[in-house]
Amino acid sequence: MYAPTTVTASTPSPDSAFDLEALLAPAVGILGPPTSLSPLPYDLNAGVPDRPSLPWRELAEAARVALEANAGEALTYGGVAGYEPLRAWIAQRQSAETGLTVTPAQITLTSGSAQAIDTIAATFLGPGDQVVTGAPTYPGAIRAFKARAASILDVPQDDDGLRTDALEALLRAERAAGRRVKLVYVVATYDNPSGATLTLERRRHLAALSREYGTLIVEDDAYAGIDLDGPPPTSLYEITGGHGILRVGTFSKTIASGLRVGWVVSEPRIVQRLNYMRFDNGASPFIHHTVLAYLEAGTYDAHVARLCALYRERRDASAAALLEHCEPYMTFKRPAGGFFHWLHLRPGLEAQTVFEAAQRHGVAVTPGPSYYPNGGGNDRIRLVYSALPPDDLRAGIQRLGAALEEVAGTVRAR
Ligand SMILES: Cc1ncc(COP(=O)(O)O)c(C=O)c1O
Repeated sequence: MYAPTTVTASTPSPDSAFDLEALLAPAVGILGPPTSLSPLPYDLNAGVPDRPSLPWRELAEAARVALEANAGEALTYGGVAGYEPLRAWIAQRQSAETGLTVTPAQITLTSGSAQAIDTIAATFLGPGDQVVTGAPTYPGAIRAFKARAASILDVPQDDDGLRTDALEALLRAERAAGRRVKLVYVVATYDNPSGATLTLERRRHLAALSREYGTLIVEDDAYAGIDLDGPPPTSLYEITGGHGILRVGTFSKTIASGLRVGWVVSEPRIVQRLNYMRFDNGASPFIHHTVLAYLEAGTYDAHVARLCALYRERRDASAAALLEHCEPYMTFKRPAGGFFHWLHLRPGLEAQTVFEAAQRHGVAVTPGPSYYPNGGGNDRIRLVYSALPPDDLRAGIQRLGAALEEVAGTVRAR
């Protein structure tokens, strides 16, 4: 019979032999927490796709097709770059989109685009190396860069994305001081969290700066395809002709984040180095075979079109609800794609206080400071519209409005 062990004060726990804090790598103590799902009734925090739209039947069928076609290959190690026919499918798509020749040798498949960013960090960044991000930017990138003890220089963003005039001034100042900036990381299209899309003019400017200063661009295109107002401007990858750039992609937003299939497209010499710096023996061949079988079944484009219609409705319903319930307390610009509203709180309202009040009203949102590598953002809130249907978005935003009113009342009363 199972008898639980009683640990008394005189019996030291076996764990006490290990001073965990002293054993941890330095990065563990300095990183912000990873994002998580909220148990609150209205989760406007987690940037996840609509669950009922997940194409699980099609994926189940694709898994069956893939295993019947070649179980031996799908269920054994597949090499570090990932399944070549899936890389060829992605390469063909990228060639068609950009008009550039993209070959499978220019692609490495990763466990989501998160691992792509981490592998890029591992390959290019060591302690003290300089990388530029927007302020705000994707927290996963902040964590990956900080984990390598890199120094993150941030450049302000506005409604049109990264301020390339500020980037130019920064690059010039760093060069004058004899320092190199190795990478510029940017979510040029439907940014997380700001929803902003970098204008064509700024994309051209960024590409020119990258060449002038020998700084590689990391173009994180995680929300590619979630076009709610027509196609985005020409990609940085195309503008640069594919030189000096690493374009990161993923099927997380268009098929399923649980697949963990992402990739990097770059020059073969860069992809070789990325492959050298990953230690996972490649991502899952079984999933790669399954995803390719799903793509070859031919329903992907129609699926993405349905998702866009669904997210467009959600964006518009949530934008209308924000204007109805929250307008006295914030401003925002409707994003042209992606999953997020980025709220700018009126002077006097602080994100952390609003976040706590919203929690009391059963609504999870994300306070702005999570998205700033070097501080800032206490006048910002990120709100996700992708995950919930319009009625829930309206109800959640009505509660957020009540929370904002409460906080504003307290501020006025001071
Ligand atoms: C900008 C951006 N990049 C990368 C990722 C990572 O996505 P995944 O690893 O699922 O591809 C996310 C996830 O939300 C994101 O918002």
